[in-house]
Amino acid sequence: MDLKEHIRGIPDFPKPGILFYDISTLLRNADAWQVAMGRLAHAVAPAQPDLLAGVESRGFLMAAPLASKLGCGFLMLRKPGKLPGRTVSVDYELEYGQDSLHIQADAIRPGQRVVVVDDLLATGGTLAAAIQLLQKVGANVTGAAVIIEILSLKGREKLGVPTSALVSYES
Ligand code: PRP
Ligand code: MG
Repeated sequence: MDLKEHIRGIPDFPKPGILFYDISTLLRNADAWQVAMGRLAHAVAPAQPDLLAGVESRGFLMAAPLASKLGCGFLMLRKPGKLPGRTVSVDYELEYGQDSLHIQADAIRPGQRVVVVDDLLATGGTLAAAIQLLQKVGANVTGAAVIIEILSLKGREKLGVPTSALVSYES
């Protein structure tokens, strides 16, 4: 199955000049979503994770069911002000401005193997911050996985861990 047939490119969203790769159409097609989850599981399994970390918000859509499928735990990397208890954070650059990702300070036992999962790898800023954050709290980050990679932005070069993408687009 060609998963690209289930991903729409919507021009000029959220801003003029941006082509938005919309996974809504993949999520709502039962067969295509099963295939995508199966391929992600196959890609992630060799990294032998104890936990999958999903990046809020779209990363949650695949990380949580994938963790269930692989029989490992799931943890949330969240935007500011969402997680209770003591948290640890990293700031990262967006195209315009800054954002930060947070994790619960006790989310990981030292040395646990973690794979970070998101829907899309574009500039790599988000996943690089996620990896940095996980390492800061003692994780052994053994990989990253996404559904879509935008090749021309070379985000993969920022990550420093083996990274899998199910489909890629030049831009
Ligand atoms: C999007 C996407 C990735 C990130 C990729 O998330 O879901 O997380 O951007 O971009 P990058 O590689 O250039 O960092 P967004 O911050 O738009 O939020 P959302 O997941 O909550 O929709
Ligand atoms: Mg996101």
